[in-house]
Amino acid sequence: MRYLTFALTKGRLAEQTMGLLEQLGISCEEMKDKRTRKLIFTNEEYGMRFFLAKGPDVPTYVEYGAADIGIVGKDTIMEENRKIYEVLDLGFGKCRMCVCGPESARGYLQNNQLIRVATKYPNIAKDYFYNQKNQNVELIKLNGSIELAPIVGLSEVIVDIVETGSTLRENGLGVLEEVCPLSARMVVNPVSMKMDNARITELIHRIKPLVSPVAQK
Ligand code: PRP
Repeated sequence: MRYLTFALTKGRLAEQTMGLLEQLGISCEEMKDKRTRKLIFTNEEYGMRFFLAKGPDVPTYVEYGAADIGIVGKDTIMEENRKIYEVLDLGFGKCRMCVCGPESARGYLQNNQLIRVATKYPNIAKDYFYNQKNQNVELIKLNGSIELAPIVGLSEVIVDIVETGSTLRENGLGVLEEVCPLSARMVVNPVSMKMDNARITELIHRIKPLVSPVAQK
């Protein structure tokens, strides 16, 4: 039996995914060692192997078939736009993609002004402003601490992830518009879905009841 390979987004999403698999009796002890420098972990009993990757790389591994299955945020799926199947909403990692800024910037979003928008997600921001709002904007790509941009005058607003809202609050900013809700998703390589259909669909069917809204209550 060939290994079913999982690409997991490093950090909380990977930990929560392994917690979910443990509920199905699938565990990977060597992954729990925080000091390990190993990159790939196997579970011989189930013929599975797991590796950790940066979020934006997960859809890439899955599209090329280097991983059969990926666990990644909806934000990254939308931004990367890879040829992969999104098969399951895992219900954790919940947050929102929002247009944020100081209250004084709200008006710029209402009367179609040419404004600057800083973001780590230029494709999502472009789709939102150009296709959904019909507003012409100048997009500025940043790689982190996006909230800085309107504070120091780099942009009027930002498009970014809001989870608790505390980063915004502590910096005198707020949510001006919501783009979409986000959460962790399971994605599958289209060829793997055909070749290993029985194993993959069985896994999806076993995980589904654990992550359905009723189960989460
Ligand atoms: C994310 C996001 C916000 C923050 C939102 O940043 O970009 O800055 O979390 O969370 P909150 O609503 O709970 O405050 P992350 O910590 O991933 O780091 P980054 O700024 O480097 O992207």
